[in-house]
Amino acid sequence: MTIEFIVNDQPIKFDGDPSTPLLYILRNDAQINSAKYGCGAGQCGACAVLVNDRVVLSCSVPASSIKGKIKTLESYEQDRVLSALNQAFIHEQAVQCGYCISGIMIRAKSLLELNKRPSDQQIKEALNGHLCRCGTHTRIIKAIRRASEGLSA
Ligand code: FES
Ligand code: FES
Repeated sequence: MTIEFIVNDQPIKFDGDPSTPLLYILRNDAQINSAKYGCGAGQCGACAVLVNDRVVLSCSVPASSIKGKIKTLESYEQDRVLSALNQAFIHEQAVQCGYCISGIMIRAKSLLELNKRPSDQQIKEALNGHLCRCGTHTRIIKAIRRASEGLSA
């Protein structure tokens, strides 16, 4: 069975086991490396991508369940919100090892698409399922706030 989907506007075909997690296909077949394997159990958020504009933890969804368009951080230059987040994260020096950041930026994009000016509390709630072992949470929140201010100025 061939599974086809669109990743960052590029068509991808996958001919392997349909129960293969989307994350493995992105990393091994589509050369998409922004989504990371953290826990593999839907607990850390490192593997978050957008499927039809909704956040999906790609370690925990089988290829067979994917229908529609996938967006990852690799597309940031073509995406106004991801570009703003990228600039804001750099400005606030919000990245240490970076392992968590792709998932966090995908979550932040999803938040800002729904709520242009979230409060710090709303940002914290949105990031609830994302672990950062480096502890840059304060700067991450500042970066998301900065991106939101820039986008809604
Ligand atoms: S690797 Fe998917 S949630 Fe942790
Ligand atoms: S920056 Fe290292 S895990 Fe978040």
